[in-house]
Amino acid sequence: MKHYLSINDIDSVSEWVEDALTLKKDPFASEKLGKQRTIGLLFFNNSLRTRLSTQKAALNLGMKVMIMNFGKDGWALEFEDGTIMDKGNAEHIKEAAQVVSQYCDILGIRAFASLKNQEEDAAEVVINSFKKYASIPVLNMESSLSHPLQALADAITIEEYKKSVQPKIVLSWAPHPKALPQAVANSFIEIMQLQNVNFTITHPEGYELDPKVTKNSRIEYDQDKALKDADFVYAKNWSNYKDYGKVINQDKNWMITQKKLGGAKFMHCLPVRRNVVVEDAVLDGNQSLVIAQANNRTFAAQIVLKKMLETLK
Ligand code: CP
Repeated sequence: MKHYLSINDIDSVSEWVEDALTLKKDPFASEKLGKQRTIGLLFFNNSLRTRLSTQKAALNLGMKVMIMNFGKDGWALEFEDGTIMDKGNAEHIKEAAQVVSQYCDILGIRAFASLKNQEEDAAEVVINSFKKYASIPVLNMESSLSHPLQALADAITIEEYKKSVQPKIVLSWAPHPKALPQAVANSFIEIMQLQNVNFTITHPEGYELDPKVTKNSRIEYDQDKALKDADFVYAKNWSNYKDYGKVINQDKNWMITQKKLGGAKFMHCLPVRRNVVVEDAVLDGNQSLVIAQANNRTFAAQIVLKKMLETLK
């Protein structure tokens, strides 16, 4: 494996989940693998979990870590080819990506969707440009369209907590005051489609995600019906895909409550808006897996980095 950009870069989800759980039991077993290797983590957007868990994963593998808040501290990058750079952007991606490649062996990039221009977001300009011009493998730490490290951590968490061979898993849209990207939902759907699970997506009408992602996953517009007998409820807001990037619904009735949850486990990628997305009673109760998910971010990142390191010469 070279890059880890999407769920499609996982050759066997079940094997990777199993490998991650093995590694979780003995996190320092491969600490020699990353000796004298450096990972560079470039953040164009904020982060708590991705930043610290990826750093921890790299350290567990014996790597050195360099982190830069590129959006804030780096020169503003130009991505267009052939531009006359006489405006705000000071550095071209062609130099920036090649320069970073001199300092690192693996490069992690976080660059969210702008939610302003659907075509540009779909083209994944930032991460694909680094992939194009860097000479080292690129790790997706959440791009416009996907968050494959989060989805892998979610699959690991479900494997740890499931009580039946084919659990019922529901991804439920939840309200949020701000426009959020679709990346987490996209990657969760993609990884669920590769698992032996009974999977349903529920959201208000009009909040359909990209049909190329949802494919033939079951969509149920009645949240109560969708949540019935669920084993896991994954709440996530996403902004509108059709009316791209807009918040067209803030219906509080879609918030996950203890009553709606029933006996299911609750999942969310965090950060989460309390009493908007989900009520306190759920997050503070013993059915919430949000901290377990955050813990598994380390082992998801570690299994991915281990596989990337194994392909380096
Ligand atoms: N879930 C997640 O990616 O968290 P951060 O945005 O804090 O990294």
